[in-house]
Amino acid sequence: MQPKQLWSLLSRILSKLLGLPGILLKKFRKEGVTELDATALLELPQDVLMDIFGTLEVPDLIRAGSVCSSWYATYKCLLDLRQYKQPQTPCLFYTCESAGSNVGFLYSLKENRSYKLTLPEPPIRSRLLIGSSNGWLITADERSELHLVNPITGEQVALPSVITIEHVKPIFDASGTIHMYELSYETPPDLFDLGDLRDELYFKAFVFPDPSTTGSYIVVLIHEPYSRLSFARPGDDKWTWVGQGSMG
Ligand SMILES: *[C@@H]1O[C@H](CO)[C@@H](O)[C@H](O)[C@H]1NC(C)=O
Repeated sequence: MQPKQLWSLLSRILSKLLGLPGILLKKFRKEGVTELDATALLELPQDVLMDIFGTLEVPDLIRAGSVCSSWYATYKCLLDLRQYKQPQTPCLFYTCESAGSNVGFLYSLKENRSYKLTLPEPPIRSRLLIGSSNGWLITADERSELHLVNPITGEQVALPSVITIEHVKPIFDASGTIHMYELSYETPPDLFDLGDLRDELYFKAFVFPDPSTTGSYIVVLIHEPYSRLSFARPGDDKWTWVGQGSMG
């Protein structure tokens, strides 16, 4: 980090800490008071840093985490506990053909600038986005399988297979490979190519913090038929359908 960028970050953090407008800090800087403050800030204990970092927008939080090893440790700790500022100013997520299929961009409304992010396979441009919440994108790949992706950390979590959703059955070819899906709530059932089911099946997905386990979450899916709900927690081997036996 350049000294100028570090200064701008420190002044933003300092203004939060002291409850002063940034403009006053600029004045202090001219008068030579802030050098002292900045040194003191680097020596703050972790619990105080956690409180300050917890109020930052994500781009500033990441910058703060790259200042030194103790600030990085604080940053990691906040991420693990998911105690950073909620809600954040919204960002717009987009991809563009010229940047390549694994690249996404986050446009920060707050800063009026875009951040370029390289994301894990399968290519983000080939996925259907069916929701975003609590920092996660919920995506369906070209086999209609669901993944959570954190666009900032690059962390990715595979969700239970699409064939464990009520009413979805795999159709195998002669070699025993899944080559189509059957959606069985209608008679006769509809058949879909692997990549086409996602457009029909998924309406919307959300990620909620799981109150029973710190740092964990529940993914809730709204899907065919009749906007039914299913949910899954990390590590589940199947989707749980809400309201079995009460169709209609
Ligand atoms: C946002 O950035 C663009 C490009 O740097 C600039 O042209 C535009 O005026 C900025 N908009 C605002 C609201 O600051």
